[in-house]
Amino acid sequence: MNAVVEAGVKGRAIQVGLLGAGTVGSGVYAVLARNQSEIRARAGVAIEIAMVADLDTARASAVTGGKAQVVADARAVIANPDIDIVVELIGGYGIARQLVLEAIAAGKHVVTANKALLAVHGSEIFEAARAKGVMVAFEAAVAGGIPIIKSLREGLTANRIQWVAGIINGTTNFILSEMRDKGLDFDVVLKEAQRLGYAEADPTFDIEGVDAAHKATLMSAIAFGVPVQFDRAYVEGITGLQAADIRYAEQLGYRIKLLGITRRREDASLQGIELRVHPSLVPTKRLIANVEGAMNAVMVHGDAVGTTLYYGKGAGSEPTASAVIADLVDIARLHSADPAHRVPSLAFQPAAIDATRLAVLPMADTLTSYYLRLRVADEAGVLARVTGIIANAGISIDAVLQREADQVVGERGGQTDLIILTHTTREGTMNEVLAQLQALSTVLLPIVRIRKEELA
Ligand code: HSE
Repeated sequence: MNAVVEAGVKGRAIQVGLLGAGTVGSGVYAVLARNQSEIRARAGVAIEIAMVADLDTARASAVTGGKAQVVADARAVIANPDIDIVVELIGGYGIARQLVLEAIAAGKHVVTANKALLAVHGSEIFEAARAKGVMVAFEAAVAGGIPIIKSLREGLTANRIQWVAGIINGTTNFILSEMRDKGLDFDVVLKEAQRLGYAEADPTFDIEGVDAAHKATLMSAIAFGVPVQFDRAYVEGITGLQAADIRYAEQLGYRIKLLGITRRREDASLQGIELRVHPSLVPTKRLIANVEGAMNAVMVHGDAVGTTLYYGKGAGSEPTASAVIADLVDIARLHSADPAHRVPSLAFQPAAIDATRLAVLPMADTLTSYYLRLRVADEAGVLARVTGIIANAGISIDAVLQREADQVVGERGGQTDLIILTHTTREGTMNEVLAQLQALSTVLLPIVRIRKEELA
């Protein structure tokens, strides 16, 4: 280190204890070791991993190369008075919650990549941290290496955020990209994704939208100054998507993406926020529609800045480590500051976080537009009856596509696919319309309904 850099460095090294020496833990260790000089010059102090806890101590020893104390018991890290920051990389809501609360109680700052834990137990954890005067940092919990938490919390702090919409689950984006590229069905691509390591052996949290909803919940809290409220999020995954709809969407100028969306609603008669995860048609011309494979991207619309877009790797050893270490540096810079002068974990001062000011709205109150696909009997008057029901509900139709028999995917004689794009309407109104349409004897299969976001 040169003299100028050395002169800017002060104090004793920050001592870090890692709980978990898996993919992310090994990345944190590797990046801290590789970039230690630059990180130290930025943080103003050295950041050292002093202890690593993992039930698999041989794995942990392989990660540290003998340069840190390895223990099997995570509580030995929490009990060590020399440890300043505990990095929780265990995952899940069970033991991770206990250990995080114990670390806070012991006066440790906490860095975590655990979106599930914070989305479900965040209020308890942030309150415990506030009471104890320690920081809980979680950049790695949302969109891996993309600094979206910092952007929302600090870079966009001047703005009244209007909406956030993101591709925040790489597994499902990989599956959707493959379905579109290769014209394959969900089940086939899921097996391929598991074989390639893009999907876990139990992919439920990813494919059912739960992981994305955890992340959307965290972004919603930071964007709008509300508590984390995962239990109020609408969650729909990609397991029901059919290759035919991806193809029809493409023909209409759209791609289907699993979006996590949170939106401020301040209509004359209704204030609140939408918080939802579901497959969405997105215009192909939008940059975010072209985010392919396991990549992540988040759009944020603020009143002053307009629309912004953040893109990068949402998972993986070193991308996630990049986010964890950024949190370590933030804590290293701020830990000696009066807690009231630190950046608040959820962007708003704790006293300003208010669930009642902007409640999470029921899904029936969501405003969006729709893609509908109806398998209908190919006979006179069917189109008129279908569009009549939609018009009677006050819903405006944007486009209609009818695929003739020889183009119907999985076609049987005398049937056709009717694809309708609507303009924006209330979800509750659309539910009523769908019930009426489904009751028509000429509608032969369950209607496919996919929401559509213009993201303009
Ligand atoms: N399983 C997640 C994804 C990565 O597929 O994006 C960690 O949240």
